[in-house]
Amino acid sequence: SRVVKLAVIPGDGIGPEVVAEAEKVLDAVTAGSEVVFDKTRFSLGAARYLETGDTLTDADLAAIAGHDAILLGAVGGVPGDPRLKDANIERGLLLKLRFELDHYVNLRPSTLYPSVPGPLRDPGEVDFVVVREGTEGPYVGNGGAIRRGTPHEVANETSVNTAYGVERVVRYAFDLAERRGKKLTLVHKTNVLVNAGSLWHRLVLAVGAEHPEVAVDYMHVDAATIHLVTNPSRFDVIVTDNLFGDILTDLAGAITGGIGLAASGNINPDGAFPSMFEPVHGSAPDIAGTQQADPTAAILSVALLLDHLGLTTEATRVTRAVEADIASRSDAPRTTSAIGDAIAARLQA
Ligand code: NAD
Ligand code: IPM
Ligand code: MN
Repeated sequence: SRVVKLAVIPGDGIGPEVVAEAEKVLDAVTAGSEVVFDKTRFSLGAARYLETGDTLTDADLAAIAGHDAILLGAVGGVPGDPRLKDANIERGLLLKLRFELDHYVNLRPSTLYPSVPGPLRDPGEVDFVVVREGTEGPYVGNGGAIRRGTPHEVANETSVNTAYGVERVVRYAFDLAERRGKKLTLVHKTNVLVNAGSLWHRLVLAVGAEHPEVAVDYMHVDAATIHLVTNPSRFDVIVTDNLFGDILTDLAGAITGGIGLAASGNINPDGAFPSMFEPVHGSAPDIAGTQQADPTAAILSVALLLDHLGLTTEATRVTRAVEADIASRSDAPRTTSAIGDAIAARLQA
């Protein structure tokens, strides 16, 4: 049998609640099969920081890097909690994992399932993927502040874009477009961010020349938010930078029935480091502990994880089970674990 070493980071808030359901589904789809998931649990996040003062130690990082893949729930405490003021869990944990493990592709698929009530009146068929760059842009932390707290304060965040970093994510996006609808849209703000914008645009055109079957177009990010709402079915693969991709994928989640359904993968396509799969949403402190969280995004992240590991049959079975569950949803509320149970039960049937 094949053993997959899986690092599990449940995290904070609803993270542990949705990860419990994702694990249920993973256990159900692999029960009696050739593949065995050997799981190691890592206690990381705001709760760990408040207990020990650690965000992500070198030992944690090395241990996590020794796994084949990572499943993460969500990290981060209550926004504004004064005890977390110096912790910066987002940078010190989540972004550190993405950067250190070279997750240069942040893969965020968006599908509107037929029976899901979304906010759009007549959306048509919505099925696109945002390929968000994951290791560069304004997220790098290349900046600083001087004269803090004075009227002359200067606060800078430099967006870092390298030819190497942009080309590799653009290549991934074109390969994906080849396997999908053969359409790629670069989203940027080349009219204002002329240096980074020019680099992205030139590399998309250059790599695009190697993919004559893929139709390429370009859209400014502000206009892209309009088209995502008025005509989302026009998109197939969107490639964009780290910050634009963050914003567009919350919007994409909203138009496809809510953030509780949006899954993602932080991928190191080269396989040098383990890839990390997580829902797009955060720790939702407002509903944590109430069993109101929808675990579907975490469960669909398991499908992305299985697919990444080449376990395509298992991935498809999870996706089908989720689709069937979604199709059967009514207005009657279900707990987080009831949704997980129902999806797991479809895999045992
Ligand atoms: P959030 O995504 O946690 O919550 C936004 C809204 O969506 C809330 O009203 C919440 O109740 C709702 N929501 C989120 N997930 C849901 C689910 N599965 N089912 C039903 N409703 C759901 O965003 P936020 O409030 O801005 O952030 C809370 C904390 O999470 C912050 O500390 C933030 O930094 C962190 N965060 C972490 C990640 C991550 O770990 N990947 C991502 C985003 C935010
Ligand atoms: C996400 C989150 C993170 C991001 C934050 C918590 C650092 O919003 O995964 O989308 O901005 O990438
Ligand atoms: Mn986000």
